[in-house]
Amino acid sequence: MKTPFTFLRPGKLVDIDFELVLTRTVEADPTKHHVPMYEFDIRHTGQLVAIGKIRLRIGSARALRYPGHIGYEVRQRFRGHRYAAKGCQLLLRLAYAHSLRAVWLTVDPANIPSHKTCQIIGAKYGETVRIPHDHEMYRGGARCTLRRRYRLQLREMPPDQTLQPTAQTASFFSMSTLASVLALRAIPHASSDRHHLDDENTGQAATPLRLRSRSTGA
Ligand SMILES: CC(C)(COP(=O)(O)OP(=O)(O)OC[C@H]1O[C@@H](n2cnc3c(N)ncnc32)[C@H](O)[C@@H]1OP(=O)(O)O)[C@@H](O)C(=O)NCCC(=O)NCCS
Repeated sequence: MKTPFTFLRPGKLVDIDFELVLTRTVEADPTKHHVPMYEFDIRHTGQLVAIGKIRLRIGSARALRYPGHIGYEVRQRFRGHRYAAKGCQLLLRLAYAHSLRAVWLTVDPANIPSHKTCQIIGAKYGETVRIPHDHEMYRGGARCTLRRRYRLQLREMPPDQTLQPTAQTASFFSMSTLASVLALRAIPHASSDRHHLDDENTGQAATPLRLRSRSTGA
């Protein structure tokens, strides 16, 4: 029988001037092909107002072929400080603790700030895919049906260091190591075929330490 998914307590996810505050967890919904998700506010440290949102979805690369593992948005007037990129970096330990060894981010080809965000965190372009017409992102009104997929390899993180305060998050995350580890085949044009890159992550909880599911809503 499949092991039930366990949400982990993410600990303090803090950077110099902002933090990620867990606002809800959302259980998987197999009827919608939704995987479990953590949703965080991006907030200036100690403030209650969200300056943005960031989400981490736990599932296989195949299941997250179109939405990706991480999604983000920053309110317009707070943009320009790389909060999305830094927020992604803060989430990597949590992703790793869920047995993810790489995360994928998918970006509308016209979304330059988001492409830059992927590049800033060291993610590499993998392929461009077309959202199928029967996918909920298409039905939900995705303006552009193409998505560029970026892959970020996660470096090994010792178990005793996972889910710790993440002030030094950037240190476990070396661009040069990433470059040497990655061996991606770039696919320059849109492809609707399933790709072998979809098969790498299981996205299971490796260490079901601490359960904290705040919400079961969609
Ligand atoms: C994507 C988003 C979250 C990035 O916000 P952010 O973290 O504040 O990012 P920044 O504004 O700091 O931009 C990141 C980088 O892109 C660069 N950039 C932004 N707009 C750019 C443009 N039009 N042309 C070239 N570079 C651009 C910035 O200069 C920055 O690089 P730098 O720090 O080296 O100068 C934000 O634009 C957003 O919320 N967009 C709407 C929601 C969205 O598109 N989400 C992503 C879905 S895939």
